[in-house]
Amino acid sequence: MSTIDLGVAVIGAGMAGKAHAAAYRSAPTLYRAALPPVRLVSIADVYEPAAADTAARFGYARHDTDWRAIVEAPDIDVVSVVVANALHREIVEALLAAGKHVLCEKPLSDTIEDAQAMVEAADAAASVARIGLTYRRSPGLAYLRELVSSGRLGRVYHVSGRYWTDYAHDPRTPISWRFKGPAGSGALADVGSHLSYLVEFVAGSEITAVRGGTLSTVIPERPTPLGAVSGRGQVAVSDELEAVENDDVASFSAELAGGATADLAVSRVAAGHPNTLVVEVHGEKGAASFDFRHPGEVGLFVTGDDAAEAGWRTVVLGPAHPYWRGGLPMDAPGVGIGQNEGFVFQARALLDEIAGVPESEALPRNADFGEGLRNLILLDAVARSAQGGGARIAVDSPAPSLPSPR
Ligand SMILES: NC(=O)c1ccc[n+]([C@@H]2O[C@H](COP(=O)([O-])OP(=O)(O)OC[C@H]3O[C@@H](n4cnc5c(N)ncnc54)[C@H](O)[C@@H]3O)[C@@H](O)[C@H]2O)c1
Repeated sequence: MSTIDLGVAVIGAGMAGKAHAAAYRSAPTLYRAALPPVRLVSIADVYEPAAADTAARFGYARHDTDWRAIVEAPDIDVVSVVVANALHREIVEALLAAGKHVLCEKPLSDTIEDAQAMVEAADAAASVARIGLTYRRSPGLAYLRELVSSGRLGRVYHVSGRYWTDYAHDPRTPISWRFKGPAGSGALADVGSHLSYLVEFVAGSEITAVRGGTLSTVIPERPTPLGAVSGRGQVAVSDELEAVENDDVASFSAELAGGATADLAVSRVAAGHPNTLVVEVHGEKGAASFDFRHPGEVGLFVTGDDAAEAGWRTVVLGPAHPYWRGGLPMDAPGVGIGQNEGFVFQARALLDEIAGVPESEALPRNADFGEGLRNLILLDAVARSAQGGGARIAVDSPAPSLPSPR
């Protein structure tokens, strides 16, 4: 492996793989130039047109069709693993054994057993292993966390969250890896992994139990595709139908340490909601809300204001807020920010860590595999609650159980 610069590769050139590929291009341009040179080396995908197109589009030197070529390449130091959840373990273990630094997409895997093995592999490795819980990189959600941790909202009473998507609303959406797997591996794992993690991240306290779990499959069969399926795009389909194995819609309530409660719902069949992530925190001194449809804003309500002027205010995010601070090319309030920037902040945090930039001078580190395992344990508790007719299930979590500070 190289020591004077960092060679980067991405395994998986689907929807999120492209975001990782683009992020490594932009990450060195954020903030000050503290990083060694970053070389964009390879994009690997079993579907060669995707690998070739993504490599060419984002300026990577080559492409591969077998992830093992990335494991064996001496000019690659850092690898994002951005393929179906069930494939994460084998690839990550091989990369870590070869001494590569790894950023694995969420959820860590599709089973707790695999995730535990991945934590052990990360603990045994000398390289960095992190998970892409990307929304913690959203300035608005990081600001919500600051509002809670600074005491501005007082004790948290209630967190309400939903993550509604519509990528499976059309019954002609072809079957793919997203529709296969154990209970809870559908919308709950796909977008509920983000939402459940964010509740703990924003509230700064851990979920100790879940109750009222529901998992619903409302479109039980889907057609098989006639071509390669990537991300949430549509392709031509056959007349042959295959069973959907997991949930289209899921919901649950959660108990947090400190006495707060949370109500959460996720969907992949919510018409008109391509990507609606909403988190609202209600505390003793006020409330704050974030809606990803308006990612450059946060809603804030503070109790105790003059009754004649009391009400919600819209905070326009800018250089005074987390992540933004001196980082973006157009560094001004109100210029807007989106999901792609989250991947850039995430990549920069990884590269900073690998390059040895002290965390005090860098972005907060990305979540570690222990947090990824804890998130899966939480989702498993929801699935068990659903199987038990909504039973209360205590969440057994390995330490460290809380999202890293900041
Ligand atoms: N952090 C986020 O916001 C975010 C967003 C979307 C997806 N994700 C995660 O990213 C991962 C991938 O999701 P996606 O939406 O990009 O999926 P996708 O289906 O769009 O892409 C997966 C790609 O992997 C390729 N592939 C399949 N088997 C492979 C193999 N053995 N070796 C190499 N490539 C292989 C496929 O050809 C496809 O191009 C999942 O873990 C998902 O949960 C994260």
